Amino acid sequence: MPNTPLRSGGPKARIAVIPGDGIGKEVTPVAVQLIQAATAKRNRPIEFVDFDWGADKYLREKVSLHEGAVEMLRDEFDAILFGALGDPRVPTNQHAADILLGLRFKLDLYVNARPTELLHDRFTPLKNCTPADLNLMVFRENTEGLYVGVGGFFKKGTTDEIAVQEDINSHKGVDRIIRHAFNYARTHTRTSEAILPRVPANPLGSAGWQPAQDNVSSSNAAAPRGTAIPGCAPLRLCMSDKSNAMTFAHDLWQRVFKSVRAEFPDIDSRHLYIDTLAMELVRDPSQFDVIVTNNLFGDIISDLAAQLAGGLGLAPSGNIHPGHTSLFEPVHGSAPNIAGKGIANPFGSVLASSMLLEFLGWQEESAHLKQSVKSALEANITTPDLGGSKPTHEVSTWLLNHISKSPL
Ligand code: NAD
Ligand code: IPM
Ligand code: MN
Repeated sequence: MPNTPLRSGGPKARIAVIPGDGIGKEVTPVAVQLIQAATAKRNRPIEFVDFDWGADKYLREKVSLHEGAVEMLRDEFDAILFGALGDPRVPTNQHAADILLGLRFKLDLYVNARPTELLHDRFTPLKNCTPADLNLMVFRENTEGLYVGVGGFFKKGTTDEIAVQEDINSHKGVDRIIRHAFNYARTHTRTSEAILPRVPANPLGSAGWQPAQDNVSSSNAAAPRGTAIPGCAPLRLCMSDKSNAMTFAHDLWQRVFKSVRAEFPDIDSRHLYIDTLAMELVRDPSQFDVIVTNNLFGDIISDLAAQLAGGLGLAPSGNIHPGHTSLFEPVHGSAPNIAGKGIANPFGSVLASSMLLEFLGWQEESAHLKQSVKSALEANITTPDLGGSKPTHEVSTWLLNHISKSPL
């Protein structure tokens, strides 16, 4: 079959590129160039296919996600590099819901992995917080919760109006994200500098994104993938919900958490209500390695965590179904307030591309992209949101030079 993705035996890793709207269109090309530069060094086979899905197309053609789009991405691509969606000309945000939430749901990308790492002391608003204190992973449930669009209006537009938005939580959905977080905690360790795999290198990738036992509810599911390197403690895990008020949906989270944690007695795990978690994250982020929570809380807490490490401009994310086409994007949106000014920070997109390369199993290239961002921060080559004075294109040129000059 033409267009066969690498994971199905095709000759090249096939990446769908969806820049989207606003600054998505400014940062995504930077990330693509960097992936090209890093992968060219070792002749990694990779191919990009661009898709102009976003507000312009939606307004022009009234099409957001065309028929067959999901199947095409699922069958013909290894990964998706996504920018951002959102445009003031589409106040309903309908195209974003159709495309972004549509892909998360229809590709069943149940893990939304949002790492927060303080890459340099000067970017945190917290006193006495160092890079060793802030390095955590938020696992946000990504396919259900309050995002599913179940609900409706009654007597809309009148003063008697009622609006209902249902919070959908399935046993399967809660179990697989909590299990994924426990597996990640078990297979990773934290040093003063990084979160690292705790098991010997896996040629298919170290991050736990590969077809794992994630969604299998059996005793096998608890087995680590490989034997842990002695002396490296696993990560600590915190499950967060609001079960004191959400007494049905989050009661399910409580019960599933208790049952999964019993399979992981080696993991230091605890529960915090989401309001307390928000407070504790600001008070002392060093107490957290892995946080697992529902879709909406994960959305909010990941922005909070991002700001502790310098802001949205630096935050990456992966929308992942291990072993299947997965989508990588910066956490930020289309930022209409700065779109078109040429000052968007490309680091979030570059770090998301680093996660994408890790997902493909190309660890060296992944590390290379991350290192280029770290070096730019060190050299103070940053856009205004990080206190610098460089426009996007200068940061981009600097990163490209860094990649092409540095030895592998
Ligand atoms: P936003 O993330 O777009 O912007 C929030 C603030 O952060 C703004 O001040 C913006 O200028 C700044 N910012 C964000 N990314 C930046 C970057 N890379 N460089 C420099 N500054 C950056 O959030 P918002 O303003 O709430 O939303 C704008 C639109 O984006 C809305 O339509 C929203 O729905 C959408 N959105 C989309 C995504 C996504 O596609 N994943 C995520 C969040 C918001
Ligand atoms: C994000 C965004 C989206 C979300 C919006 C645009 C629907 O905020 O990716 O964090 O809430 O998931
Ligand atoms: Mn968000």
